[in-house]
Amino acid sequence: MSPKPKTANPIEIPKVLEGEGWHPLSWSNKEIQQLPAYPDTEALQQAYNKLRSYPPLITSWEIEALREKLASVSDGKSFLLQGGDCAETFDACKAPKIVNLLKLMLQMSFILVHEMGTPIVRVGRIAGQYAKPRSKDFETINGVEMLNYRGDLINSFQPSREARIPDPNRLIEAYEKSALSLNFLRALSDEGFADLQHPEQWELDFMQNNEFYKEYEAMVNSIHKAINFMETITPNTFSTLHKVDIYTSHEALNLYYDSAQTKRVPRKTGWFNLSGHMVWLGNRTKQLDGAHVEYLSGIRNPIGIKVGPPFDLDETLAILDKLNPSHESGKIVLITRMGVDNVEKHLPSFIRAVKQNGHPVVWSCDPMHGNTFATVNNVKTRSFNHILNEIKSTFAVHRAEGSYLGGVHLELTGDNVTECVGGANGLNEKGLDRNYETYCDPRLNYEQSLEMAFLVAKEWNKSYR
Ligand code: PEP
Ligand code: CO
Repeated sequence: MSPKPKTANPIEIPKVLEGEGWHPLSWSNKEIQQLPAYPDTEALQQAYNKLRSYPPLITSWEIEALREKLASVSDGKSFLLQGGDCAETFDACKAPKIVNLLKLMLQMSFILVHEMGTPIVRVGRIAGQYAKPRSKDFETINGVEMLNYRGDLINSFQPSREARIPDPNRLIEAYEKSALSLNFLRALSDEGFADLQHPEQWELDFMQNNEFYKEYEAMVNSIHKAINFMETITPNTFSTLHKVDIYTSHEALNLYYDSAQTKRVPRKTGWFNLSGHMVWLGNRTKQLDGAHVEYLSGIRNPIGIKVGPPFDLDETLAILDKLNPSHESGKIVLITRMGVDNVEKHLPSFIRAVKQNGHPVVWSCDPMHGNTFATVNNVKTRSFNHILNEIKSTFAVHRAEGSYLGGVHLELTGDNVTECVGGANGLNEKGLDRNYETYCDPRLNYEQSLEMAFLVAKEWNKSYR
């Protein structure tokens, strides 16, 4: 006998939605992966109702603006920089962390703009990236078997059976922490960050060990000159007019969270997930008939689709058809995460198939998730060189196929962590213990990220200049 399909905890479907084909809860009778059952169904319903009653975190016109920008990326006229934590945590919802991430994204985009001469669309993995897929349901810590940690949106990292039980109140806390993060991000990007446009304040000394140091130095000097020039001819306008746009994104994994914040808005057709500008379909939840694809097929937001082994070409094309049936531009970001050794094997046929089906997509490269490994001491890490080499081969394949690689998707932090090995500072496996903070996947630190931005620009120039 085949196992019983695993569907989610039932949430009451409001009367007004009954009879509609798609609605924010139409996923609930589909088979679902990676979303554990909540034992307290009454508390889940209450949390859901409360979350649904809360005001949106973002607006539909911001979503539409991002879609327009992504359409320009798919036309080859700009470039997408998406990055942030693997998993945000509630405890880390603090000013310095948010400042550091925004500062890093801004500096990376300055490097990209300057080197590539093309506009950059910035999307953070922030203000909602609290849920994680896991390959195993259980783990054993100190002899006790317990549920795996699935991100602060679902359960606690604390290693006890009780702490690992999915807790519906976390839906509310995730919303609150996202609102706090977003509020501060918006305040910073409105004003406060003018000084960051001065590259002499960037901490670039570490680059001295890098073979490209002279080029970095020349670039920083040239950005400096350009800003001084602008400020001389139009005093104050540079910092005040150039408000920093940064959009938010997260994996649409915990569908209770995403669907509760999915709403209609006046004078517009369709439904919008108002908890984040862009959401993505994870590599482990992309079943054509599954709950996640069903949910994503009804929202107007731009959608990322992670594509990496194992994946089925026909199923992936069918998902594209389902998520973007009318082939709208700026709607789909295909985020390939093949692993450095699989790019040449899988990517060319995938690019050709998407082209043949006529889908206008943004192609983006996630060089992180196919390149995780454990050190001899069992520390989860990634190598700067593997990451860079996946980017290089992805550019090379797109170049050969005459297609535009329009973005990168990176796990990074503005903090000085030691989670990935390599980079100009030569961090090795022994050094990983020094400041290993992530609860989930290893991220590029501040220095490694700036260096990566420079190297991404070099690859882009080889392909498209
Ligand atoms: C992630 O982006 O953190 C992630 C889990 O990615 P993927 O679904 O590609 O494995
Ligand atoms: Co990750």
